[in-house]
Amino acid sequence: MSGKTCVVTGANSGIGKETALGLAQMGAHVVIVCRNADKGKAALEDIRSVSGSLQVDLLIVDMSSQASVRELAKQILERYPRLDVLINNAGAAVPKRGVSADGIEMTVAANHLGGALLTFLLLDLLKSSAPSRIINVSSQAHQGAKIDMADLQYERRKYSSIRAYGQSKVLMNAFTFELARRLEGTGVTVNCLHPGVVATNIWGTNPPLPFKLLIALIKPFMLNSKQGAECTLYAAASPDVAQSSGKYFVKSKIAESSRQSRDPKLMGEIWQWTERMIGQAFS
Ligand SMILES: NC(=O)c1ccc[n+]([C@@H]2O[C@H](COP(=O)([O-])OP(=O)(O)OC[C@H]3O[C@@H](n4cnc5c(N)ncnc54)[C@H](OP(=O)(O)O)[C@@H]3O)[C@@H](O)[C@H]2O)c1
Repeated sequence: MSGKTCVVTGANSGIGKETALGLAQMGAHVVIVCRNADKGKAALEDIRSVSGSLQVDLLIVDMSSQASVRELAKQILERYPRLDVLINNAGAAVPKRGVSADGIEMTVAANHLGGALLTFLLLDLLKSSAPSRIINVSSQAHQGAKIDMADLQYERRKYSSIRAYGQSKVLMNAFTFELARRLEGTGVTVNCLHPGVVATNIWGTNPPLPFKLLIALIKPFMLNSKQGAECTLYAAASPDVAQSSGKYFVKSKIAESSRQSRDPKLMGEIWQWTERMIGQAFS
């Protein structure tokens, strides 16, 4: 990965931090993108010290805010002449329904729309750096999710953190597959993946009791963050997948994404909805 520039969002903890560390250890120039400046600085120091690389930079963003994502893209475009790998890893399970600075339901704003906007804004740089890769960190939680195109923001349906989270990942997968189709022939690939069930902060610090019990039961079987980063590192760096695009990976193997996420009609609707919500058209 020497000579390559990689951007990893949500890189101050968990899978994103281990992904950034792994890329730095492979010799890449890594830009870690974090929401909180203090957490970001601590992660930057850790990654630099463990990898022994000074080619690790920090940028700050709130992925749920489109103004913040636009500012991030501006800084990346100003500072880096190339971009070889963009990893949209930032994500959250939002316990209670809330809205972003743009008035959009928080889960979908942070998990799907922020990454989609960042991708669109960096596409020219990715194209001029081709062969380049976009990786969207999704989840098997998308498998059980139901999409209601008329209520993606849970304005009519009762909000559920798990359902909103799963839905955001269906949108991410469908968007990935449609983007791959549109990027054919550009040298830019885009794939999505499930990192495994990984013991990270995403499970929450103080979840409701039934969930707490479930987590306590499954925690011994969860992967650690280093193991959780393996699939992302494979998608980002392995020559085996240099030509793969529009795929969904689980355990570093091509897997089947849900039928909904591969439904061409729904993919088209999700694409249009995404463009409308981020106020940015694909070019
Ligand atoms: N852990 C699992 O079992 C699992 C399973 C399937 C998929 N995933 C996916 O893996 C990815 C990484 O999650 P993780 O498990 O490593 O959890 P994590 O340790 O909580 O990491 C999530 C990262 O995303 C950041 N983030 C969340 N909302 C953000 C926002 N609005 N703007 C900017 N950054 C934001 C977090 O920043 P803060 O620290 O500031 O909150 C953190 O750096 C997520 O996309 C998640 O959906 C995880």
